[in-house]
Amino acid sequence: MENFNFCIGTNIVFGKDEIAQLPALVKPFGCKVLLTYGGGSIKRIGLYDRVKELLSDCEVYELSGIAPNPKLESVEAGAKICKEHGIDVIVAVGGGSVIDCSKGIAAAALYDGEPWDIINRKAEITQALPIIAVPTMAATGSEMDAGAVVSNPATKEKVSFFSPHILPKASILDPTYTFTVSAYQTASGCADILSHLWEQYFVAKSTFMSDMLVESVIKTIIHYAPIALAEPENYEARAQLLWGSNIADNATLCNGNGLCVFGVHAMEHELSAYYDIAHGVGLAILTPHWMRYVLKKSPETVTARFAHYGRAVWGLEDADETALAQKAIQATDDFLHSLNIPMTLKEVGIGEEHFKEMAAHCVATEQTAYSWVPLDENDVESIFKMCL
Ligand code: NZQ
Ligand code: ZN
Repeated sequence: MENFNFCIGTNIVFGKDEIAQLPALVKPFGCKVLLTYGGGSIKRIGLYDRVKELLSDCEVYELSGIAPNPKLESVEAGAKICKEHGIDVIVAVGGGSVIDCSKGIAAAALYDGEPWDIINRKAEITQALPIIAVPTMAATGSEMDAGAVVSNPATKEKVSFFSPHILPKASILDPTYTFTVSAYQTASGCADILSHLWEQYFVAKSTFMSDMLVESVIKTIIHYAPIALAEPENYEARAQLLWGSNIADNATLCNGNGLCVFGVHAMEHELSAYYDIAHGVGLAILTPHWMRYVLKKSPETVTARFAHYGRAVWGLEDADETALAQKAIQATDDFLHSLNIPMTLKEVGIGEEHFKEMAAHCVATEQTAYSWVPLDENDVESIFKMCL
């Protein structure tokens, strides 16, 4: 087991109607609040009115219209409001895009230069406004991690940035708010959660405990995703997915493992940077093809691991390890197909015209170079082509 430092400072408040705790969670940070949200789903589910009522003693400013794959312009607009009005705390209500954008705003609000410098890691984040998050879908786990992703459409870049300063101070997770998430976004979110788990599991060095933890959360998502799709208001299913998304992406499960670099995520961020597709859908399209590609490219590295995954997660057996690894890939592919989301790039309107530059961009992030099976530009372009 490797040495590690693990300090998660987010106070998680989980369960139905726990939004009532919002004023108490906000108060220690001040009374000037920036409320951030997306395209209106929080108004349709009554959450906007409830939050405004709960914050009626505060001076509340708003930034709405934060788009999926949040854009730099929203970070800039939010930072401007914070600076002009001396905002004390940000309350982010929505999906991962709203929470990520709010993280950018929180850091940019206390930075004198251009917000993009912070996002593309030119400038280190040394401070940020406190964030209270209220996630309304199960996917990214942004409400309890120290990372965020923001896009710059002008340069076709989608960039991840990290800092302990942007970790939300508290997050309120009420599964009932996720009842209205569409089947498409529910499936996309589940594919994202699974991808976070796979990216931590398909690594060179993991521990027994980490493997057991990740396998159990993968099985939980596989069990409950179809239930949530069939019965959108099934509380237990939505609760398991929401908590699963939370613990899937903040190192809880992989502490003590060796290097873990999210290589498939790096490839997906090119797809959503160029074509603005749903992140989880991009991951669902890429993952089975990436598995097939690395099995062929580096069988000595991946065969035993994929075979182990087939046994532990899918209950598969085969005397031949390669055959078992292939069966595990097929089971993964079949499950993602069963979620009824696009499984080819053509279905989401992506052709091969930008593959070369996307592959170059992707490799420049260095994520693929340090991932389990290092990938160069040709590898990434080949995987994109397999996904057509
Ligand atoms: O904008 P509104 O109207 O709120 O609608 C949203 C949006 O259209 C809708 N939605 C959210 N909650 C809803 C709802 N609709 C009905 N009822 C509800 N309760 O869902 C749509 C998608 O929302 P979005 O926030 O974009 O989805 P998600 O949570 O999947 O976030 C995706 C973004 O997070 C990044 C992705 O790259 C992408 O930009 N990621 C962030 C990570 C992190 N911070 O750690 C890690 C991830 O790997 C990922 O990269
Ligand atoms: Zn993800």
